[in-house]
Amino acid sequence: MTNTVNKIVLVTGGSRGLGKDMALQLAKKGFDVILTYQTKSEAAQEVVNEINTSGKKAFALQLDVADASSFNQFGNTLATTLKNEFHTDKLSALVNNAGVGVHASFAETTMEQFDSMVNIHLKGAFFLTQKLLPLLQDGASIVNISSGLTRFSFNGYAAYAIMKAAIESLSRYQALELGARKIRVNTVAPGAIETDFGGGAVRDNQDLNNMIASNTALGRVGLPDDIGSVVAFLCSDDSKWVNAQRLEVSGGFNI
Ligand SMILES: NC(=O)c1ccc[n+]([C@@H]2O[C@H](COP(=O)([O-])OP(=O)(O)OC[C@H]3O[C@@H](n4cnc5c(N)ncnc54)[C@H](OP(=O)(O)O)[C@@H]3O)[C@@H](O)[C@H]2O)c1
Repeated sequence: MTNTVNKIVLVTGGSRGLGKDMALQLAKKGFDVILTYQTKSEAAQEVVNEINTSGKKAFALQLDVADASSFNQFGNTLATTLKNEFHTDKLSALVNNAGVGVHASFAETTMEQFDSMVNIHLKGAFFLTQKLLPLLQDGASIVNISSGLTRFSFNGYAAYAIMKAAIESLSRYQALELGARKIRVNTVAPGAIETDFGGGAVRDNQDLNNMIASNTALGRVGLPDDIGSVVAFLCSDDSKWVNAQRLEVSGGFNI
């Protein structure tokens, strides 16, 4: 039943911020898009409407990446959505983007905060991808969203950043093992971007914004549309020989 014409991508956390821009840029690049949201269904539907209006097809599904026990059910719902809405049984690309951060010093990080970072960023991305392997076509592309915080360090991000570091290692192992199916796996590591992330601090705290801009070679803070087109490139055949790479997209922060 595989539809060989339409390329379909799943973007987790596509309702806002970076994931929203990824969904829009992927649609511009010719992909139909299934995006997920955790709680903000209306925001997700607005992204869906924007893509549908542009001539590509989109659909939104609810997903909590912190709840790995729900992935079986999510996989079934996704398979039904692919069949009923997109008339295919396979995804061409998967973007593991959904997530929130936690800001706490190493000394004060609680086990609850630590576990929530494990569940969202590590266990979620690991087992969601594992569960979706049968729905990925051979030759598919996986993009895992990391963070510049794996290369440089900011006070208060230990628990968050080490999960992202693990995702970068995971991406290389996935690339190694999934290469037999011609599946490529790359990591995109955004610098500080103006979104709701961290309570919108990078966007709304002018001192923080100025500090980041002044330490960025290109002289400003990142915006969501600095990231989506890079993810779209990595999902497309334009990057067909790019595999197991970490691509930092930070305008040259702390270089
Ligand atoms: N912004 C930055 O400076 C920055 C820098 C480096 C890396 N990143 C990474 O980029 C990714 C996206 O961040 P963002 O800045 O776009 O954040 P954002 O604006 O806060 O958006 C977060 C997105 O993830 C979804 N989400 C949050 N928790 C979820 C969960 N438990 N299960 C499923 N979906 C969940 C949200 O869904 P709802 O809309 O339904 O709440 C929303 O779509 C994250 O992995 C983040 O770590 C961000």
